[in-house]
Amino acid sequence: MQPNRSPAKPSAYPSHHLRWRAAFLLYLACSLTNLLPEPTTMLNQMLLPLSLYHKAKELIWDPRDIDLAQDVRDWQRMGERERDIIARLSAQFLGGEIAVTHDLAPLLAAIRRQGGLLEEEMFLTTQLFEESKHVEWFDRWWNAMGAPQLPAFSAPYRQLFEVELPAALSRLLHDDSPRAQVEAIATYHIIIEGVLAETGYHGYARALRDHGLMPGTVRGVELVQRDEARHIAYGLYALGRLLQSEPALWDALMTRLNALLPLALDIVSETFAPYGDEVPFGLEPAAFIAYASEQFDHRLSALERSR
Ligand SMILES: [Fe+2]
Ligand SMILES: [Fe+2]
Repeated sequence: MQPNRSPAKPSAYPSHHLRWRAAFLLYLACSLTNLLPEPTTMLNQMLLPLSLYHKAKELIWDPRDIDLAQDVRDWQRMGERERDIIARLSAQFLGGEIAVTHDLAPLLAAIRRQGGLLEEEMFLTTQLFEESKHVEWFDRWWNAMGAPQLPAFSAPYRQLFEVELPAALSRLLHDDSPRAQVEAIATYHIIIEGVLAETGYHGYARALRDHGLMPGTVRGVELVQRDEARHIAYGLYALGRLLQSEPALWDALMTRLNALLPLALDIVSETFAPYGDEVPFGLEPAAFIAYASEQFDHRLSALERSR
């Protein structure tokens, strides 16, 4: 007599599913073996871009944590002309941070294609994240102050941010030659970050910090400036590397910087133009032009040392 066996329980995975799964895993393993870098790819902790990357992790901040309550009170008590110049400066920063966030990625792609520069790729991911955060900060500030209408940007501002910057960076998508990289970094990291933005932070400090006004704004701008110091340091480093491998690029670099410096100085002058001889907060346009020129000289000296 046959033993009383219960019917076989159907498997949750029919055998042909198991075969397909095994084949897929084998395929995945083979693909990964081909894709993974050689085990000799190790990070060089001595390289500046990697120490800047570590600093970016240590010094992370959140624009949402900055208290703007006192700033709103100060803003409401300020005169119309004072509000106008702070709004003009902040609008330029908001527009500028949006532009640099839009336009950085082609540099990262060019560095990737060049190969062997993983530390720089890693640094650039922090820069892109920080530029986005700067957009968030200035956007938050703008809304917190009651969103006055954005003032129109001057012609030199539009030339730099809407023409020169996107052209120099998007060129890297089809031309990642060392010369194209030098011209892109000169535009982005040296003129925009190293000259123009630095002069803008100086404006906030003289207008607000010196008068004990808008402490949240002063703090937020200081944190943006701290991030930007790393971006400028990377730009100088990358230019130094490119110049050492191809010294003849020095002339291209100088041509680019000398073409863009007048534009940056015009943007500074145009910021003060609407106020005539009586600039709010007692700011002196000539002092800001001198400050921007000094920033340019500092960057130039650093580049000369790295040749
Ligand atoms: Fe930024
Ligand atoms: Fe930046």
